[in-house]
Amino acid sequence: MILAIETSCDEVSASLVTKDFHVKKHIIFSSSELANKTGGVVPELAARESANMMQSVLQKITQSLDWDSVKAIAVTNGPGLVGSLMTGIETAKTLAILFNKPLIPVYHIFGHMCANFIDQKEEISFPALVLTVSGGHNDIYLWNSAVDYKKIGTTLDDAAGECFDKCARMLGLGYPGGPLLSKIAEKGDTNHSFTLPRPLLHAKNENMLNFSFSGLKTALLYTIQKIKNTNTELDQHTIANLAKEVENAICETLLHKLFLAQKKYNIRTLMLSGGVSANKPLRSQFLEKAKKQKCNAFIPTKIEYCTDNAAMIGAAAHLIWNASDDKLFPPEAVKIQMSAG
Ligand code: KG4
Ligand code: ZN
Repeated sequence: MILAIETSCDEVSASLVTKDFHVKKHIIFSSSELANKTGGVVPELAARESANMMQSVLQKITQSLDWDSVKAIAVTNGPGLVGSLMTGIETAKTLAILFNKPLIPVYHIFGHMCANFIDQKEEISFPALVLTVSGGHNDIYLWNSAVDYKKIGTTLDDAAGECFDKCARMLGLGYPGGPLLSKIAEKGDTNHSFTLPRPLLHAKNENMLNFSFSGLKTALLYTIQKIKNTNTELDQHTIANLAKEVENAICETLLHKLFLAQKKYNIRTLMLSGGVSANKPLRSQFLEKAKKQKCNAFIPTKIEYCTDNAAMIGAAAHLIWNASDDKLFPPEAVKIQMSAG
């Protein structure tokens, strides 16, 4: 088993993951209620909360743990909030030194991608394409083999998760905005009259597989201002219709680019990951489109494996472990890493 720890933002999580990607035990504490009060994550506050939550998470995950069954420890080493990352890294280092275990550093975005391996019924074969989208990143990766992956598309500005969160705030919803906006969008009309832009949808050349979501945010702001200027109230029904249009614009853009990449590289294995892959319409539209293109499609088996969690870090660490010849992973070598090395 691998004992994995993830503390990159406002969650503190620990998991025990077996070598066949089964989650034996999973603990997750979140300070997102605090972020709800402050209208978003405040790095300094999130870091303090991570330090406060770490002890309870550690107590729970190590309760009646047989340390001989743990072959290695894994920890997210970036990107993320530095203060929060430090709590996870220092805890993992201490455990690794104390119990004489290798310490595997895991790049957070690779962790999200590997969430697809957890408790999956069918085997995932390479090469694959993965669309990984959360609050902080929005990328398409060409995944050639276990630990060989290359970014082929990214956002030029905001990630879709950030766009969900900011649009939700403009519509007077709470934080995190993605799930709240999606819930209210269910009440929106299919034939509503709002049209928001799908940025870079038909971009050619170097931006063909890239994204841009800041213009969508601004377009929503102007639409809300226009409604308010005509002395019309932003009622619940209008909010639901606007939320539906935001969700449609984001899902359509994300999937359009992923399937452009699928055609360009002629790949048959496709995956979704990251917090935004918890989005219901995105999941169902993705599976439908993949079926039409006769592709094997994978999504994380549980919603809790889409957003930040330690199980995905454990799954990634198994792939890294299997691909390593010497399997040394000295704890003292683990350092914060803010971009892919
Ligand atoms: O991966 P994650 O937990 O943290 C980062 O690494 O950023 O992703 C969080 C993001 C937030 O922006 C949140 O609004 C979005 O994922 N999210 C969703 C849904 N659930 C979480 N967006 C749309 N629909 C959802 N159901
Ligand atoms: Zn994340």
